Amino acid sequence: MTRPDSTALRHGLADCLEQRGVLRTAAWRKAVQEVPREQFLRSFFKDAPGPDGHLRYTPISPDTDEDEWLTLVYRNETWVTQLDGHLTADTADGPLTGFPTSSSTMPATVVGMNEALDVEDGMTALEIGTGTGYSTALLCHRLGEDNVTSVEVDPEVARRADDALETTGYSTWTVTGDGLLGHPRRAPYDRIVATCALRRIPYAWVRQTEPGGIILATVGPSAWSYGTGLAKLTVKDDGTAEGRIIGRTSFMPARAQAVVPLSGDLAARAAYADSERKTSLSPDTLDDWMPAFLAQLAAPGAQLVRALGDNRETVYLFDARREAFAALTADGDQWNVRQGGPVALWDAIEEAVTAWQKAGEPDITSVRMAVTPDAHAYWIGGQQITDDRRSYWLGQKEHVLRWKHPHPPLTA
Ligand SMILES: C[S@@+](CC[C@H](N)C(=O)[O-])C[C@H]1O[C@@H](n2cnc3c(N)ncnc32)[C@H](O)[C@@H]1O
Repeated sequence: MTRPDSTALRHGLADCLEQRGVLRTAAWRKAVQEVPREQFLRSFFKDAPGPDGHLRYTPISPDTDEDEWLTLVYRNETWVTQLDGHLTADTADGPLTGFPTSSSTMPATVVGMNEALDVEDGMTALEIGTGTGYSTALLCHRLGEDNVTSVEVDPEVARRADDALETTGYSTWTVTGDGLLGHPRRAPYDRIVATCALRRIPYAWVRQTEPGGIILATVGPSAWSYGTGLAKLTVKDDGTAEGRIIGRTSFMPARAQAVVPLSGDLAARAAYADSERKTSLSPDTLDDWMPAFLAQLAAPGAQLVRALGDNRETVYLFDARREAFAALTADGDQWNVRQGGPVALWDAIEEAVTAWQKAGEPDITSVRMAVTPDAHAYWIGGQQITDDRRSYWLGQKEHVLRWKHPHPPLTA
């Protein structure tokens, strides 16, 4: 097929990203102007709510309407390219339902992350989540194809991305595999960037990054589509990484960390409570971004489900790994909370959200974090100091909140 001339559209996208304050440097602007996004979006799904309110996905390609296809490609939008781990728009018929498993992320997000990487000429980068390969191509344009490695877990997605990259002129190092392990063969990297969301940053990435190098990845709830933050960490000489959340982002979860939706009789799973009390913190608070982020720091891995029974709503939190639950039902202007299992999920969440509220509800960018060989630590306020002998905290008075999540044990 002849290649449509998208020059004006590429320049238009660059203008749009610049006006939004996302595109800030000439080198990245050149990349946006010169990398043809249509090569990576030969077909994709356009979504719209169906009659039942659930999204329906309609295949779009040059065969459906070439003008519409090309115009949409250059919209600042995320386009889904795979549903349910196998359905692609070139083989699908008509509007269909499904769960997005691969996409070309909205250019504002990809380019904003690239800018946040603070790259310099000659640096090497490892990308996790090749997807269509568009973001990989931008990295190749900026750093050179030899300096970029990209890992994609889905073999078919990886094959398509590789083809598209080759067609566009980038013979870069694309790898099919689980990016949570990084790619030791080409390590160390100056930069690691993930375009899928993580419950935690794998320590393997810290090991595979040069001291002084940067890791940029979305962390937070894998059970919810919001409440996630973009973590920017600098790797230190001592083999730890430290940094902060620099803003909100939202990505599809890394596959191995994706949460299986809860099913079955939820009321039965929450039948035997160890405690019951009233709370004045509404679970609706968790509909907001920052409380949702905090909830996952306080009760990592907990899933929130709303269920209707006997004409009233129950909000459940389940932590399948630790076999703990909290069940909340409205009771006048308060809520009744029943909790069971080895950890009191709602106690932990309430404590975190209440402390955050008392501290004046600081933004997600106030969250600092560190990754060590043993754990992830998150904190708001205060400062962690580590010397040869011990680790201690400065600024205890203004120190508001702190969590430590040990890395999960390695399984055989
Ligand atoms: C949002 S898409 C990537 C967007 C892509 N960077 C682009 O611009 O087109 C996320 C991708 O991450 C991939 N992915 C999920 N878990 C992964 C893992 N553990 N390792 C590598 N890739 C993963 C998915 O298969 C999906 O293709």
